[in-house]
Amino acid sequence: DKGEFRHYMLKEIYEQPKVIAACLEGRISEDRVLTSSFGADSAFLKDVENIHIVACGTSYHAGMVAKYWIEELANIPCSVEVASEYRYRKVAVPKKSLFLTLSQSGETADTLAAMRMAKGLGYLTTLAICNVPSSTLVRESDLTLLTRAGTEIGVASTKAFTTQLTALLITSIAIAAEKGELSDDKHTALVHALRSLPSYVDAAIKQDSAIKLVSEHFANKHNALFLGRGPMFPIALEGALKLKEISYIHAEAYPAGELKHGPLALVDETMPIITVAPNNQMLDKLKSNLQEVRARGGELFVFGAKETGFAQAEGIHYNEIPWVEEVLEPIVHTIPLQLLSYHVAVVKGTDVDQPRNLAKSVTVE
Ligand code: M6R
Repeated sequence: DKGEFRHYMLKEIYEQPKVIAACLEGRISEDRVLTSSFGADSAFLKDVENIHIVACGTSYHAGMVAKYWIEELANIPCSVEVASEYRYRKVAVPKKSLFLTLSQSGETADTLAAMRMAKGLGYLTTLAICNVPSSTLVRESDLTLLTRAGTEIGVASTKAFTTQLTALLITSIAIAAEKGELSDDKHTALVHALRSLPSYVDAAIKQDSAIKLVSEHFANKHNALFLGRGPMFPIALEGALKLKEISYIHAEAYPAGELKHGPLALVDETMPIITVAPNNQMLDKLKSNLQEVRARGGELFVFGAKETGFAQAEGIHYNEIPWVEEVLEPIVHTIPLQLLSYHVAVVKGTDVDQPRNLAKSVTVE
């Protein structure tokens, strides 16, 4: 039931504060991530020395964000690959590696095949972060962390993604703590940040009507370029996927530092450039990348906290989003991009919940 909402996608975007809270429930105490979240077999948290993440589509983007968290917090190498590639190549598995799959449905054919293949490759264990408790992936994986997003009906994944990220951040913190890479103070600070996450996401959703206004600029666009740096690069990829999936506008995402290496040639007055600005040491670098774009006439759409110093200006559409702790930015900054693609699709009159050519669950290769 869509209730007061016009589409399931919008309903699911608005459910995010609630389902993220559900994902955190019982998995954190006042100041610690609880290893019991992983069941009785949580020894892998201490033993793991390397991680392979395998997934498809939006779930793959969640894995790309996790790589930044895992390497930063737990100081162990992490690689991320789409399941359709992983399953058809010879994979070298370092000692004490964790195989981690991400899937909303738990029925994606390539992800299942990758997991079945991995079981014969000598991994420490296989962990699935999944939304559907009764799915094949959950049944066949050694360990499971459920995302608790509830049924997701819109083909464009929204709440499944942000709950995957929440579960991945819990996992990254748990590994970092068990491996002795996290000071008590840092651990406490991270858990306090996690506790605020539902209210931050709620504050980001409150920008809905402002983002709706911005979406009108996309009514006649045929292309869009998303830029991000650091963990905001996978968020840019996810923003581009959402836009192409439901509005059929051709969208690409690049790490902003790659602009000069090719995509800058695409930029002229007809090209909208969308970016979510982080509030960290990458901000100045991003700003200089954006100047290069402005200098070629590209129209900028910037989402960022007011601390980033962006403001409305000639050729710059600025939308404020709340300030949040750096580690949470990938989750909270996803919200404006979900809302943007939703409203652009509504403006274009496409079938938001059931885009052409796509199925909710890709159970065949
Ligand atoms: O159920 P899964 O998470 O395994 O699905 C993976 C992809 O098919 C899925 O994320 C797809 O990319 C979405 N339609 C994106 O919105």
